[in-house]
Amino acid sequence: MIVLGLESSCDDTAAGIVEDGRERASIVSSQDQVHAPFGGVVPELAARNHIRHVVPVVQRALEQAGLALDDLDGVAATQGPGLVGCLLVGLSAAKAIARARGIPFVGVNHIEGHLLSIELDEPLARPFLGLVVSGGHTALYWAREDGSYALLGKTRDDAAGEAFDKAAKLLGLGYPGGREIERLSREGDPQRFRFARPRVRGAALDMSFSGLKTALRLTLEREPDAMPADVAASFQNAIVTTLVEVTRQALVATGARCVVVTGGVAANGPLREAMARMASEEGADLRVPALKRCTDNGSMIAYAGWRRLARGEADPLSLNARAELALGPRVEPEAIA
Ligand code: KG4
Ligand code: ZN
Repeated sequence: MIVLGLESSCDDTAAGIVEDGRERASIVSSQDQVHAPFGGVVPELAARNHIRHVVPVVQRALEQAGLALDDLDGVAATQGPGLVGCLLVGLSAAKAIARARGIPFVGVNHIEGHLLSIELDEPLARPFLGLVVSGGHTALYWAREDGSYALLGKTRDDAAGEAFDKAAKLLGLGYPGGREIERLSREGDPQRFRFARPRVRGAALDMSFSGLKTALRLTLEREPDAMPADVAASFQNAIVTTLVEVTRQALVATGARCVVVTGGVAANGPLREAMARMASEEGADLRVPALKRCTDNGSMIAYAGWRRLARGEADPLSLNARAELALGPRVEPEAIA
């Protein structure tokens, strides 16, 4: 079964093709240059650029796979969560292809795409604990045997990637900010400044990152002569420590033996190293997808869509985009263990 997947939930226009669970093509058209002057994604600009890129991206993916539209057995697109104007572009294109070719269409939850992307390279046993940490999302999920999910905890305000991006802007660095902060941090002392690691009272697996950027701004105001590398390294350290400790707590509370860390922020070297140390201390198996699978891509949507289509599921063409789309109900970690 050959499935085309379209991703347009944020600022990347992407198409991937999966055949029986294996990647045949992956094309990502990045809009980093478009949004760089603003230090963050401008939704209306993103939507307009998706319209420009969606057809070429599909054509290039077909070319890379050596296939034609007639070879497709199904088509998937991200339904949500994401920016509605952006989601509509990928969804509409996918529906048009499905309608014109008379093939099934399926909407995919973007978060499920992230969680399963590693399966394009290696099998993943369930149940597992999954941390999705990107520019738009920071949340912990429990992936069950039967393919259903539960939400264990999430950020109450900014996503971790968003915090990196805002901090980079304050430090006068480029966009996207996470990579820039990581680079600058290599020459800095992560212990030079102590940023609080905010946790949410009464919800151990929830996080909060919006206070961190205020703390960063105040530090820069108070100590104008501080080495930017020290500030960046200390800031990065606060985010990494928070993510690692919350994940540790979730591992302990659920008794999970396997943890997947994915999303754009999972590209961060110090985060990967700290997660690996923590997982080995807890006796858990850490799985982090290859860098190109951590960031938004079409293959992860094609893959998650293929799984549903292969089970005989499909969605009507009336399926609508959803800015907020839960992957599963919220549960207490104790209810899992
Ligand atoms: O998954 P992604 O490509 O898009 C979303 O779904 O949001 O993630 C993008 C986010 C940005 O906020 C970016 O700053 C962050 O991932 N990021 C990083 C690194 N590379 C990208 N954060 C920390 N360290 C990195 N090396
Ligand atoms: Zn994403």
